[in-house]
Amino acid sequence: MENSWFLISSKLKKIKFNGDTDIRFTEKFAKKFILEFTKKGDKILDPFAGFGTTLFISQRLGRQAIGIEYDKSKYEYIKDKIKAPNQIIHGNSLKLSSYKLPKFDFSITSPPYMRFFDKEDPFANYKKSGSYSKYLKDIQLIYMQIKKVMKKNATIIIEVSNTIGEGRPMTPLAWDIGREISKIFFFEEEIIYCSTEGDHSHVLVFKNK
Ligand SMILES: C[S@@+](CC[C@H](N)C(=O)[O-])C[C@H]1O[C@@H](n2cnc3c(N)ncnc32)[C@H](O)[C@@H]1O
Repeated sequence: MENSWFLISSKLKKIKFNGDTDIRFTEKFAKKFILEFTKKGDKILDPFAGFGTTLFISQRLGRQAIGIEYDKSKYEYIKDKIKAPNQIIHGNSLKLSSYKLPKFDFSITSPPYMRFFDKEDPFANYKKSGSYSKYLKDIQLIYMQIKKVMKKNATIIIEVSNTIGEGRPMTPLAWDIGREISKIFFFEEEIIYCSTEGDHSHVLVFKNK
């Protein structure tokens, strides 16, 4: 990327979904990186598909995306809106190696968040107990499996923020994830996403060298 920061709106389009719809990136965000790092026909992986932004934009731009989503209602939301060869798997990215996946040219996602004092496991939809150290080990385990399905020189992007502590110290989540994933992939650059609404996040760009 030429610039180490960019500014776009973080305003989300309204979607019909019963529940919290804020935890997703914008279509503009996904489009910017998909256009920058892929060409038509390329295969794209989103291991935390959420509301399917990566899949929908990939489909619209003639790419082929596969997403994995743990939450059944989000999986169903996506399933009805995509056509093969795009695919959504209702599953767990901690078991990524057990799914039949092709080799990918590109991966982009935003992971579920955890703060150092939280007690629920984000990788189990906050329904089991967990710890921040287990969370960081799990994200490493997931990306070790992702490495096996990425083509050589593929780009892997993780969008993440350091999280505020509501009276406690901040959790340097972006930096901790950056450190863990740089044990697996070459950490090429960091781009700061600033939104016209006043917030920002870190776009961590890795290469499968
Ligand atoms: C931050 S959201 C992703 C939002 C997505 N980028 C979008 O724009 O809609 C993280 C998602 O990861 C899912 N998730 C959490 N643990 C998971 C796991 N173990 N395997 C797959 N998906 C998981 C959550 O249910 C949530 O939808």
